[in-house]
Amino acid sequence: MTGPHSTSATIIAPSILASDFARLGEEVAAVAAAGADWIHIDVMDGHFVPNITLGPDIVKALRPHTDIPFDVHLMIAPVDGFLEAFRDAGADWISVHPESGPHLNRTLKRIRQLGAKAGVVFNPSTDPSVIQWMMDEVDLILVMSINPGFGGQSFMTSQLRKLEVLRRMIDAEGRDIPLEVDGGVTPETARLCRDAGATALVAGTAVFKGGPSAYADNIRALRGG
Ligand code: DX5
Ligand code: ZN
Repeated sequence: MTGPHSTSATIIAPSILASDFARLGEEVAAVAAAGADWIHIDVMDGHFVPNITLGPDIVKALRPHTDIPFDVHLMIAPVDGFLEAFRDAGADWISVHPESGPHLNRTLKRIRQLGAKAGVVFNPSTDPSVIQWMMDEVDLILVMSINPGFGGQSFMTSQLRKLEVLRRMIDAEGRDIPLEVDGGVTPETARLCRDAGATALVAGTAVFKGGPSAYADNIRALRGG
């Protein structure tokens, strides 16, 4: 069964969480040269999620290594005080979890005011209705198909239904905004996601496995061969 969005070009956003952190600049350049559309950057604070990764200074250091957009996924709370630093560092898309601040609407407006695109991230337990009354403020929807914090986890098929619901909400508004999935995305689960209406796929393990010589084939496989 093929979904309505499975034939359009899928955005592939490799998560550098699975790359070689000792060679981050080279990894970003290599994955961009291999056909990545965006670079997905996972920011974790050891508080909102049980892991710590990187901050705005590293995003800034990576910026000269590629021209493709930086898709910055903030898993930090409270998030508002850091939006400007990530925008200044070169973030093009900034996505936040509703649970990471008291006023999601205000946070999204601030991201746009800073000149970036504003994304909302759904934890596996977060209900799609969170954005029901503010679809106009949203530039990107990101559905977590794992609990955030670590790469290499298994895809939660329960989130396919949520993708379908969000796809219907986007279409009902007539909005052309990316519907992105993050966590456990492999060539097999990528197909399920596309069929459920996803148009952008984050993948760490599935892109970076095998080292730089495998990146192009890995990305092609996620697009469906
Ligand atoms: C986890 C991150 C993901 C992670 C995905 O909190 O948001 O982006 O890197 O890794 P894989 O593709 O290995 O599941
Ligand atoms: Zn992520």
